[in-house]
Amino acid sequence: MAIISDDNLKYGGEKPSKASIKKNPNIKSEAIEFDKTFENTIRPKDFDSYIGQSELKETLKIILEAAKRREKPLDHILFYGPPGLGKTTIAGVIASQMGVEIKITSAPSLERPRDIIGILMSLKGGEILFIDEIHRLNKVAEEILYPAMEDFTLDMTTGKNQTAKTMRIPIPKFTLIGATTKAGELSSPLRDRFGMIHRLEFYSVNELAKVVERTAKILEIGITEDGAKAIAMRSRGTPRIANRLVKRVSDFAIVKYDGIINEKIANESLDILKIDEFGLDTTDRALLNLIIDKYDGGPVGIETIAAALSEDVRTIEDVCEPYLLQAGLLQRTPRGRKVSPEGYRHLGFKPPSEQQTLF
Ligand code: ADE
Repeated sequence: MAIISDDNLKYGGEKPSKASIKKNPNIKSEAIEFDKTFENTIRPKDFDSYIGQSELKETLKIILEAAKRREKPLDHILFYGPPGLGKTTIAGVIASQMGVEIKITSAPSLERPRDIIGILMSLKGGEILFIDEIHRLNKVAEEILYPAMEDFTLDMTTGKNQTAKTMRIPIPKFTLIGATTKAGELSSPLRDRFGMIHRLEFYSVNELAKVVERTAKILEIGITEDGAKAIAMRSRGTPRIANRLVKRVSDFAIVKYDGIINEKIANESLDILKIDEFGLDTTDRALLNLIIDKYDGGPVGIETIAAALSEDVRTIEDVCEPYLLQAGLLQRTPRGRKVSPEGYRHLGFKPPSEQQTLF
């Protein structure tokens, strides 16, 4: 049975057995770590079915066409931005539009030099290597990657000290697509080797409603326009969350109603799942409540917040904060995090600036 939890909604479902992972035929993976089955089924494969990020799509169409006409591989590309906005998905679209294979891995699984060397040597001409969480690449792996990205060579050293020799081994020309939630943590030599760097933006409610309608159609679930909008409004600007919510709401629609999602059913089920009208879940609200309740609205350091919520700092920084900041409910100051007046109001409190003092 699927366990409905905030984590399921935010990170992408429960962990399946290895054998149950169904791979997207366009995406070969050396290191798929957790459930991508649902996401892979609904992933758009071309620019037309990829909703949103219109500026990026236009730029990519030109770059892809130019690379095809020159018969050269694409420049290396870095995508950054909060999780769930479609970095892996757009990399898959690029690969299928170029008619090439994509190998997907993530930096934490490239721990030993032989991991990155192995994957680089396995690439065929024109193929795409996608490295997720690229800011977590270790120094040695990074240094192996520099000549590979720049000259399509592997520089191997044999022997030690005076007898040390460097061999240059050519590898096929490939395109590296890196993805990160933390562009600022990338070293400058690595960042400088990308020909294109692009930030993915949060989606508008209208864009997310289209994502919701598309997913419902693939899942063969009826949905009204208002139903799609209701889900979109609570999806924190993030298609991955929108898709998870469609699945959860459709469970309610099938079990409790006639199977068609309308506004009432969407709102009722999202209330039961404790996703509020801004898309905030229990952790987000607990974070804002903690700062208001225990720290007079802040500022308070991220480590203190994480410890008090029993979450790790990375989860707070990567998953909760980006949307709270973008929605204007939280502010980041040099002395820590502060709840904004809107954040107070959202939780039903009067902001300090509107509170009357007795003296
Ligand atoms: N599913 C996830 N991201 C999507 C997008 N940008 N367009 C359509 N479906 C998606």
